Amino acid sequence: MSTSPTRIPTDAKVVLVTGASSGIGEATARHLAEQGHHVVLAARRRDRLAQVVGDLTEAGHSAEHEELDVTDRGNVQDVVSRLVARHGRIDVLVNNAGVMPLSPVAALRLDEWDRMIDVNLRGVLHGVAAVLPAMRERRCGHIVNVASTAAHRVDPTAAVYCATKFAVRAFSEGLRQENTDLRVPVISPGFTRSELADRGGDPQVQGAVRAATEQIGLPASAIAEAIGYAIGQAPGIDVNEIVVRPTAQN
Ligand SMILES: NC(=O)c1ccc[n+]([C@@H]2O[C@H](COP(=O)([O-])OP(=O)(O)OC[C@H]3O[C@@H](n4cnc5c(N)ncnc54)[C@H](OP(=O)(O)O)[C@@H]3O)[C@@H](O)[C@H]2O)c1
Repeated sequence: MSTSPTRIPTDAKVVLVTGASSGIGEATARHLAEQGHHVVLAARRRDRLAQVVGDLTEAGHSAEHEELDVTDRGNVQDVVSRLVARHGRIDVLVNNAGVMPLSPVAALRLDEWDRMIDVNLRGVLHGVAAVLPAMRERRCGHIVNVASTAAHRVDPTAAVYCATKFAVRAFSEGLRQENTDLRVPVISPGFTRSELADRGGDPQVQGAVRAATEQIGLPASAIAEAIGYAIGQAPGIDVNEIVVRPTAQN
């Protein structure tokens, strides 16, 4: 489902943001639309997407939405094919959708482990597989992968989450090396205000994450601006890695 886009200026990028119904994805979609790009907001919660698209189009920006489950390979490919048919290209894919139900390994919450692997890692692979052939053919494009400070260090209760984020970072480096015409920024946020700790995981652990985020968390707009910086560089300049932490985060 999509809202009809307004005409896209030729110098604007067509940007697909996954996980755009809240938090960092929503802030990124808002920021990039305000910068003049055409933004496609994708996630499962259509009502939330429609609300943000309504705000943006009312303010004169160019945006539409697509219902998307990144764990469904066919769904990702269909959405990308539809967008390429509609706009002729996707210039930027922001692989942002993610989940973080934290718990100690010994709790053996296997369904949540699978969920993290499916959304945080497989979801990224599905997005890349869907956009890569056309980007390689056009010999340009940005694939922005949202990792985490959890892609740089491991802490108790975050073993599986960190494993998925380390994997996204490793995969991004391989993707970058193999595709010299493409740009593959990895953006690693620290504590950022969003809905990330609201679903699943050990209630005590998630409560502690929420408390820390409330105390020191960055606004999601700080991460959106880092993504805007990464995709705003002149051709040939690939911002490989940005880590954005609150000053108070250890
Ligand atoms: N907040 C932080 O402190 C922090 C720190 C480091 C890294 N990150 C990373 O930042 C990214 C965004 O998270 P956030 O903090 O903004 O949390 P959030 O507010 O919970 O946003 C997560 C987004 O992912 C989407 N999503 C979840 N499962 C999905 C699926 N199967 N298919 C499509 N979309 C799905 C959600 O939308 P629907 O539920 O509508 O599908 C939502 O829009 C994640 O990759 C997260 O790991 C966050």
